[in-house]
Amino acid sequence: MEKIRFALLGYGHIGKRHAEMISKNAACELAAIIDTNENIKNAIPEGVVYYQKLEDYLSSGPKADIAIVATPNGLHASQALQAIQSGMHVVVEKPFGLHKKECEEVIVAADKMNKKVFCVMQNRYSPPSQWLKKIISEQLLGDIYMVQVNCFWNRDERYYKQGSWHGTKQLDGGVLFTQFSHFIDLLYWVFGDINNIQTNFNNFNHQRITEFDDSGMVHFDFINGGVGAINFSTSVWDKNLESSMTVIGKNGSLKIGGQYMDKVEYCHIKDYTMPELAATNPPNDYGMYKGSAANHSYVIQNVVDVLNNNAAITTEAFEGLKVVDIIERIYNCKNKQ
Ligand SMILES: NC(=O)c1ccc[n+]([C@@H]2O[C@H](COP(=O)([O-])OP(=O)(O)OC[C@H]3O[C@@H](n4cnc5c(N)ncnc54)[C@H](O)[C@@H]3O)[C@@H](O)[C@H]2O)c1
Repeated sequence: MEKIRFALLGYGHIGKRHAEMISKNAACELAAIIDTNENIKNAIPEGVVYYQKLEDYLSSGPKADIAIVATPNGLHASQALQAIQSGMHVVVEKPFGLHKKECEEVIVAADKMNKKVFCVMQNRYSPPSQWLKKIISEQLLGDIYMVQVNCFWNRDERYYKQGSWHGTKQLDGGVLFTQFSHFIDLLYWVFGDINNIQTNFNNFNHQRITEFDDSGMVHFDFINGGVGAINFSTSVWDKNLESSMTVIGKNGSLKIGGQYMDKVEYCHIKDYTMPELAATNPPNDYGMYKGSAANHSYVIQNVVDVLNNNAAITTEAFEGLKVVDIIERIYNCKNKQ
């Protein structure tokens, strides 16, 4: 069988991880890397061609079956659209976009061109996430009363460097998009959509380094029943403190915690014994700070399974769009305060 050929847009932290995962998968081959920063040219793997501009690659580059969009957030939807219109499937790093409308345009174009859209939410593969999804789908907790997500991280001037896309409204979009969209995906994936959103935002210590607030307390209802809250901040001094989810249901309660939601810290459910879960992969290590679980190999394998064997996409475009929609509605609430 012919290898699946990839074009990679953006060869930064996460782009390099995608390239590594493609090189480790025998069914895949990296054909081209497109990155506006010419300095990365020297670090490109052998046999892969480099383009500085997407337009140049699309007009004269080696053909690929699928493009991975791993550029700054604000470029995702428009670059995914360009790739689809040129006849490629796309993998879009999180978030799918910064506006629901632009994600809808990508979905419509993909449908028209008969192309697939894979959104990246690799935390879904972590054993605690898989376990949570399973027991909630099986209704082991019965009616869900309350779900609370707490994400208290550090992102300071060591992270928000001058001239970077991080911290800008246009390319970053806010901490719910860049830091915490995995947790909003988990909420949506497991418990469904939300409404009646109420917010209280603050900017405690990022006034000079970002164009948006660093913290918020968000309350809402689940359409399927129960209430929820997300408390988030990037204002924690020095290092990440916590990422956790507490669930209270009619038949029991549980808490997933650890810095990266890599542990089930508490589980007490009627007539249920907690199984032993596999260990979670370690987080992506960016040197000074750490990110989400290093599960990108599963994302590339899912592309292979879908394109070669007609498997289901792990994170569908519509689900990626819903995460953007929820974040956009949360931020729009602020505008009405
Ligand atoms: N799934 C995850 O857990 C995860 C983790 C980290 C980052 N991300 C996402 O991946 C994306 C990239 O993040 P990063 O940390 O790698 O950022 P980065 O700044 O390290 O890399 C971005 C790269 O895109 C390049 N670029 C900028 N504009 C471009 C353009 N117009 N065309 C082509 N290349 C362009 C930059 O030169 C840079 O090399 C972001 O959307 C981020 O949210 C996802």
